[in-house]
Amino acid sequence: MTRRGQGRTISYRALMRSLQIAVPKRSLREIFDRHEGRLIHKVDHYFPIYERHLEHFRGTSPTVLEIGVAQGGSVEMWHEYFGRGTVTVGLDIDPRSATLAGRRRHVVIGDQSDPDVLLRIAEEFGPFDMILDDGSHRAEHQITLIETLWDHLTDDGVLLVEDLHTDYWPEYGGGHLRPDTFIERVKPLLDDINAFNSKESDFTPTHWTETLTGIGVYDSVVVLERGSHKPFTTSMAGRPSFDTVNGLPWSEALTDEHRARMDEMNTPARRIRRAVLHPRLVLDTVRQRLRRSK
Ligand SMILES: C[S@@+](CC[C@H](N)C(=O)[O-])C[C@H]1O[C@@H](n2cnc3c(N)ncnc32)[C@H](O)[C@@H]1O
Repeated sequence: MTRRGQGRTISYRALMRSLQIAVPKRSLREIFDRHEGRLIHKVDHYFPIYERHLEHFRGTSPTVLEIGVAQGGSVEMWHEYFGRGTVTVGLDIDPRSATLAGRRRHVVIGDQSDPDVLLRIAEEFGPFDMILDDGSHRAEHQITLIETLWDHLTDDGVLLVEDLHTDYWPEYGGGHLRPDTFIERVKPLLDDINAFNSKESDFTPTHWTETLTGIGVYDSVVVLERGSHKPFTTSMAGRPSFDTVNGLPWSEALTDEHRARMDEMNTPARRIRRAVLHPRLVLDTVRQRLRRSK
């Protein structure tokens, strides 16, 4: 909606801003649906995923890197979504994408499979608040990307790899449980993020443990959230409900009877029963242990 006055056209939003009246921000989906600029091509269910992981960057002038610029529409969308001061850097192998470049919009023509290209971009424009891989959709490139650029995210940066359905498509070298897919590379990160909790000497914290605070796994999308990750701490609030608590941690304040009941849940016989009923779980555990010991 626009208002006209004295020959000048001012948008409804600009008018509200000048009157210091708060206008609810448009959702990313709304921005996309109203988009009339360069072509964007997105999978519909990605919008709520983006919103969930990227909303907190709105209005903070983030620096974002998108691998795969194509016609440039998604870069335009990110500028509108994140707001004034946003800096975008796009990488594409197709020289035609360079026409998008402009103020606060950088385009690098290069191949994402080359770690030197990624590092040069990181040195010139990083660190990034968001890195989004919508480029070649090849697993080896996606693995190179996370291994090369993970340390070039800001302290609360977010890295998204999308269109991971290709990990299941033979023409992309994919297939269920194929060891060289991106999805298989991500699975050990579920262990890494928990490694502070390990009591096994052959499973100890890694750089991923110390820097990865969250993993979002969705149909065709993986989101890795960066941050300073430390062993967890606990706090208590409220009044004790049982005399036995006495300020002790819950696990130390169990009665003998309670402890015996919990031990009974984990007898060898129960473990064998679980293995018979759920052999797949046991096989997966053995497979993971073998992989870790390699
Ligand atoms: C799916 S399109 C990107 C779409 C765009 N992000 C959007 O939402 O409208 C993928 C792009 O990745 C580019 N691409 C393919 N292989 C690449 C590579 N090895 N390095 C860099 N870009 C590549 C293609 O040229 C293409 O423009």
